[in-house]
Amino acid sequence: MNLVLFGPPGSGKGTQAERLRDKMGLRHISTGDLLREAVAAGTDLGKRVQGILASGQLVSDDVVLALMRDAIVAVSEDQVLKGWLLDGFPRTVGQATGLDELIAKLGQEIGAIVVLDVRRDAVIERLSGRRTCTQCKTVYHVKANPPAVEGRCDRCGGTLVQREDDHPETIARRLDVYEAQTRPILAHYRGRVRICEIDGELPVDEVTRSIERALQ
Ligand code: AP5
Repeated sequence: MNLVLFGPPGSGKGTQAERLRDKMGLRHISTGDLLREAVAAGTDLGKRVQGILASGQLVSDDVVLALMRDAIVAVSEDQVLKGWLLDGFPRTVGQATGLDELIAKLGQEIGAIVVLDVRRDAVIERLSGRRTCTQCKTVYHVKANPPAVEGRCDRCGGTLVQREDDHPETIARRLDVYEAQTRPILAHYRGRVRICEIDGELPVDEVTRSIERALQ
């Protein structure tokens, strides 16, 4: 099954993706992670997008579509994976149209779009407290989901850092960009693809259970 995890910044897409990918045998593909990896590696792509990520604006559709095309084709050639789990993509109607064309060519379809609903003030509180492992990318929250040892990842012992775009002004810009450019994608898919609306403000385990129930 191919899934799209959809919702505003900080709604828990990455947190839920980590849980669902292993249970469902899916490849988690996060455009944000791919772009941050390019920045960290200092590639040409990374140098071009670094300022855009830090400002909370969107990287251009053609750059993102090229990245996703490679990732989705790789999953379709894999004999073990049962599909893909997209996180942070598509983010504009142009990206959604590009995705539709790509998967039509591959003979695939989107099984469901899982929408995590979280209010704006809850998102701001979550992103202000988020810490991410520099090595394995596990996500924590200083209050809701703290590591056993402050600043250290429980899973791999890596250093936990605050993302460059998790500062109040940038969070506000990312939320505005979501409302203006990303939310309209739901209208593009409504009536054509199954859309599962989930209360993303429940505790993490309950959100996972709600998603699993909705997909049954
Ligand atoms: P991206 O990395 O995709 O960021 P995002 O969509 O803004 O989402 P986040 O990663 O911030 O949040 P999340 O929903 O994954 O929440 P998380 O699980 O971490 O994009 C970053 C940038 O890259 C963009 O601004 C843009 O510049 C660029 N980009 C990426 N994709 C692009 C595209 N397609 N096109 C163009 N540009 C693109 O959780 C957040 C916090 O909440 C954590 O601390 C977590 O522990 C906590 N938490 C999670 N669930 C719960 C819960 N149920 N209860 C309490 N706390 C919770």
